[in-house]
Amino acid sequence: MFSSLNPHVLRLQFPSLQQEINGQPAMFLDGPGGTQTPVGVIEAMSEYLLRDNSNQGGRFATSQRTDGLLAAARQAAADFLNAQRPQEIVFGANMTSLTFHFSRALSQTWQAGDEIVVTRLDHDANISPWLLAARDRGVAVRWLDFHAEDCTLALEELPRLLTEKTRLVAVTYASNAVGSITDVARVVRLAQAAGAQVYVDAVHYAPHGPIDVQALACDYLVCSPYKFFGPHSGILYGKYDHLASLAAYKVRPASSQPPGKWETGTPNFEGIAGIRAAIHYLATIGELYAGPDLPHLSAYSGDRRHLKTALHLIQQHEAALSLRFLRGAAGIPGLRVYGITDVERLEERTPTFAVSLTGYTPQQLAQRLAEQGIFVWDGHYYAVAVMERLGLLDQGGLVRIGFVHYNIAAEVDRLLQTLADLTP
Ligand SMILES: Cc1ncc(COP(=O)(O)O)c(C=O)c1O
Repeated sequence: MFSSLNPHVLRLQFPSLQQEINGQPAMFLDGPGGTQTPVGVIEAMSEYLLRDNSNQGGRFATSQRTDGLLAAARQAAADFLNAQRPQEIVFGANMTSLTFHFSRALSQTWQAGDEIVVTRLDHDANISPWLLAARDRGVAVRWLDFHAEDCTLALEELPRLLTEKTRLVAVTYASNAVGSITDVARVVRLAQAAGAQVYVDAVHYAPHGPIDVQALACDYLVCSPYKFFGPHSGILYGKYDHLASLAAYKVRPASSQPPGKWETGTPNFEGIAGIRAAIHYLATIGELYAGPDLPHLSAYSGDRRHLKTALHLIQQHEAALSLRFLRGAAGIPGLRVYGITDVERLEERTPTFAVSLTGYTPQQLAQRLAEQGIFVWDGHYYAVAVMERLGLLDQGGLVRIGFVHYNIAAEVDRLLQTLADLTP
């Protein structure tokens, strides 16, 4: 039972976190690049291969179990995103492949002279597919900028970019580089009032906060289970009517109904078993919560409520890590944190920090931390437009420190001490 999230208990479920590097406990601050998996996910995947391994739609036991798994996993993903129905969930290889595939179909509805909006805060997987689709269809691209001081999207500019010709706004829910969270509901209101659809990249946001596609009213939303404690895979949500009416690129015998028409080829069933188990892991965190009622979650019930509760607890724990990190970072000479650093604004960011340290290139700093068993990324992490806008693309980008719910205060302190020791 939890009255707040207890990361020490949850960490025991993650075998990989027990590793040592050069005699020191490994510190996984690479969550924005991919999270570790709890034992339930690992077991679900191996059990599928041991016992149920088959293809879908057969008349025999293993195939029927595979059909059952697919239905249960789709329901779990619908619960995770609060989708109206499981047929709105499409499984795929990863967010990038799903987005390329989907953009090709969606752009068939565009005309030459139409317009789309992309943002400079996005990962390139929510930019390039749209740039290429726009090029193929003779569609103009408008760019929504972000404020360099705090790396938040310049939403006040959006109304000016929207015209009666705008067909799509592609926007990130949270930046995988600097952690800023977008007010997606506001983007949707503005875009839909102008007659445009909205495609939300929730890959970075998904492990850090609750998602409700019905409350957002977005047309499409994508996320990647390997960023929220599951296996390497991707999920696309689309409003049912859109998925039903759009023409999909598919082989002739494949289903003509969603979601089957969007799932090309044989799905990764063992991965889908892992997705279901990852969502179950999160739901269990919410189910075990024995604290005061969370009134704003009363609209949800069953697993949907457990999932929202879990993500709420995760937000609280991660905000405490962010606070500790930002307070400590402010006292380290030469350490610069990009994005929101105001500790009164923690609800506007995930615990993902892009930093530089005087005297080190990002590559050198990441290398020095790696030698001490601290795993961080350096470079642009495909947030090319972010680094370009900050003028850092040609200088090796930044070092990215990413906390998730299994990180603990003692790790923040060890990181801060290591950074302080590295200062010249
Ligand atoms: C914000 C964001 N969007 C998209 C992607 C691409 O996701 P995938 O690896 O599932 O294609 C990533 C991966 O790092 C990401 O962080």
